[in-house]
Amino acid sequence: MRYEVDFLVIGSGIAGLSFALKVAPYGKVIILSKGDASEGSTKYAQGGIAAVMYDTDSFDKHIADTLVAGDGICDREVVEMTIREAPERIRELVQYGVNFDMDKQGSRFDLHREGGHSEFRILHHKDNTGAEIERGLLDAINSHPNIELKENQFAIDLITQHHLGQRVTKHTPDIDCYGVYALNCKTNEIDTYLAKVTLLATGGMGNVYTTTTTPIISTGDGVAMVHRARGVLKDLEFMQFHPTSLYNPAEKPAFLITEAMRGAGAILKDRNGNEFMHKYDPRLSLAPRDIVARAIDNEMKLAGVDYLWLDARSIGKRELIDGFPTIYAKCLELGINITKDMIPVRPAAHYQCGGIKVDTRGRSSIHHLYAAGECSCTGLHGGNRLASNSLLEAAVYAHNAALDAVEISKNTTINNAVPDWNAEGMVLNEEMVLITQTKKELQEIMTNYVGIVRSDLRLQRAFDRLNLIFRETEELYNRSVLTEPLSELRNLIACAYLIIKQAMARRQNVGLHYSIDLV
Ligand code: FAD
Ligand code: SIN
Repeated sequence: MRYEVDFLVIGSGIAGLSFALKVAPYGKVIILSKGDASEGSTKYAQGGIAAVMYDTDSFDKHIADTLVAGDGICDREVVEMTIREAPERIRELVQYGVNFDMDKQGSRFDLHREGGHSEFRILHHKDNTGAEIERGLLDAINSHPNIELKENQFAIDLITQHHLGQRVTKHTPDIDCYGVYALNCKTNEIDTYLAKVTLLATGGMGNVYTTTTTPIISTGDGVAMVHRARGVLKDLEFMQFHPTSLYNPAEKPAFLITEAMRGAGAILKDRNGNEFMHKYDPRLSLAPRDIVARAIDNEMKLAGVDYLWLDARSIGKRELIDGFPTIYAKCLELGINITKDMIPVRPAAHYQCGGIKVDTRGRSSIHHLYAAGECSCTGLHGGNRLASNSLLEAAVYAHNAALDAVEISKNTTINNAVPDWNAEGMVLNEEMVLITQTKKELQEIMTNYVGIVRSDLRLQRAFDRLNLIFRETEELYNRSVLTEPLSELRNLIACAYLIIKQAMARRQNVGLHYSIDLV
């Protein structure tokens, strides 16, 4: 099938849905989502969204906290713009129908605090903020006449001049995006989607690692597509590990224990029940995430254990049950009563700070291609993202990109010369083990060699092993009918390659990139 549309959006998390709502008054919009519409990191966000809403706080403080967490390499202009725009984007979310918790008087938002924040400024909906945002935005999308949301459509590759037979390299000056090829996961057909403007909002790549809080859809597809299309990618060495995922090895994705719990008073303890964060940072359990995750990693290695404790008991029964109902219920299911028992936690891959490089209008290096949300790299996070700045960044950049895309679309025509996907001569790969085993190997390599603490030797080993996996998988890809698992595996390999390459190139310990061979 061939589709033509003004605005094509890949991804139905906060970034994709926010963008779609904003461009919809100006043309037809198609949103492609690789699974169910609500399945993405957005739905799992617990803590909330950071914004300065009252004068008890200030933009300057939020800016300073973001710059400190980013370890000196944030783009200051981007930080200032994003944080100053935050209250307006929050008001919009509320207008779309998203509910945030109010204080007891019902007149002000109830604000939480998380690691690295000097003030209480996290708007939230209990401990399931993301699910509420996703619900509100999907309700607004579903009632919009100009938006068609198509589930189970897997975008495979961006369409550029390459598909018109031209040679495209990373030095080609005017790479142009005409849309995407996408696999219809119900019919197994590969459809052609042509658009004036395309937005990538494909989320993160946590599944490059064995243990991740991100859902199974987070396989770095947008980043890998831009890599293959020769676009510019940045800061991928900064993979953020959340310090406190619930230790429950069989569970995928790993269940998160929100940082807001530490904001409310929960304390990290070693397996003997002793506090240890004073050895690492004066901000203790509320230090920025990179520092806390490294401290936990070190303590686990010293003691030779797989998890440590988070002690939330001092918060009080009522506040725990009312304020963290999802976590309370989840832990109880596993026999852990968080009002009485400590919670077993360990770090898990959580958020990719780098991604598709975009400017302040959300433009990527490829013409007519925008990116927003976790797949993008705006410069806001620098070396390490401040908690709850991610949903905020997605909302702000979806807005900026939409403003620009509407203008650009007015002078753009759809390129009809694009050929359909050619699958001739391909055979169906019947051995799933070729994909599943390779994925496991990839995740183990990344976890053991390219995790929280790195070294030159570990990175080189990872690189050499990845090379073999890459060659085998490309060989399989070249002779197989394309399937979602195979395509995701290629994307994970591309992302792993980019993380390793960029980690090797970063010759200084900064933010989330930490190597024992560097200072
Ligand atoms: P996502 O919400 O991940 O959506 C990605 C979309 O892209 C999905 O619809 C998916 O189907 C689609 N997609 C991907 N690839 C393809 C493809 N090839 N073809 C078609 N569709 C595709 N951040 C905060 O600021 N505050 C928090 O409290 C917070 N808590 C978090 C808790 C957890 C457990 C996790 C995992 C993350 C948390 N984060 C939080 C981070 C934040 O939730 C995400 O960064 C953010 O939601 C990403 O939104 P997004 O729109 O970019 O992508
Ligand atoms: C959390 O709730 O701890 C996650 C917040 C975030 O990732 O920003």
